[in-house]
Amino acid sequence: MSEMELTMEPSEEFLFQHKGIYFQPHFVTPEYIDSLEDFEIRDSDVFVVTYPKSGTVWTQNILSLIHHEGHRDGTENVQTVDRVPWLEYNIHNIDYVHRPSPRLFTTHLPYYLVPRDLRNRRAKVIYVARNPKDVVVSYFHFSSLSVLLETIPDFNIFLERFLAGKVLAGSWLDHVRGWYTHRDDFNILFLTYEEMKKDLRGTVLKICRFLGKQLNEKELDTVVENATFDKMKTDPRANYNSMEGNLLERGKGHFLRKGIVGDWKNTMTVAQSERFDNVFKEKMKDLSSTFTWDIN
Ligand code: A3P
Repeated sequence: MSEMELTMEPSEEFLFQHKGIYFQPHFVTPEYIDSLEDFEIRDSDVFVVTYPKSGTVWTQNILSLIHHEGHRDGTENVQTVDRVPWLEYNIHNIDYVHRPSPRLFTTHLPYYLVPRDLRNRRAKVIYVARNPKDVVVSYFHFSSLSVLLETIPDFNIFLERFLAGKVLAGSWLDHVRGWYTHRDDFNILFLTYEEMKKDLRGTVLKICRFLGKQLNEKELDTVVENATFDKMKTDPRANYNSMEGNLLERGKGHFLRKGIVGDWKNTMTVAQSERFDNVFKEKMKDLSSTFTWDIN
């Protein structure tokens, strides 16, 4: 194997492959993933679905705030990760089966590994996608911050692994393509990180309409205020700082890093950007009119 081929292989300490994608071995087993096919879905369940680094924690927070009408209704001290927990990474061993309705969940699963009844259009899915160039840069920084992911100091190697889908949650291209092309199987609302940035209030309203939830102006204002980057960055329930030590390395940065559109331009070289464009164009050519990011 060449040196490049060797560095392309994810370390087994941090990732295992199952059914086409990569998972974190610390919290999940292949058997548990397989069991999720039969996970009982309720019509009232709501799922935030994302590829990592696409605005997951942001959407979790918005969803939870909408659900609690802006105030937190007894969830004041409950972290986002427990209010809208991961389906596949049940890190705090929450009893999902007996959780009162409506249950809010998060997942990074591809469309073909989610519970069967989700594919039968039961429950609601909010899918958030982000310009993949910003995703890969955010992911690169996150990999060195998270104690559960392999630190890859060389961005070029990280980029190649990302493009090859050799990172947690697999290939961005396959994730977005899969969910989008199977959208009719789901009761789904598609959002982009960029539209959330551009019009947070409009996005909150869109989510409210999708959920059939009506907030008054004051409640809406509170949701929007609490979902801004600056507010979330200082909100211990929303900023994941409490995971420092267990999941995030102390002193290495923050989960809420920059929260901007176009940060990739500060990291990628022209050659890396062109390399990205070539793979992106090749793999997404039939969907290129659908995903209208100006990735440049
Ligand atoms: P950056 O690393 O580019 O700053 P995820 O939750 O899917 O892991 O995504 C994390 C990314 O979303 C990070 O991007 C983080 O800063 C950004 N983010 C989180 N909350 C946000 C908010 N309220 N507004 C804008 N970006 C936010």
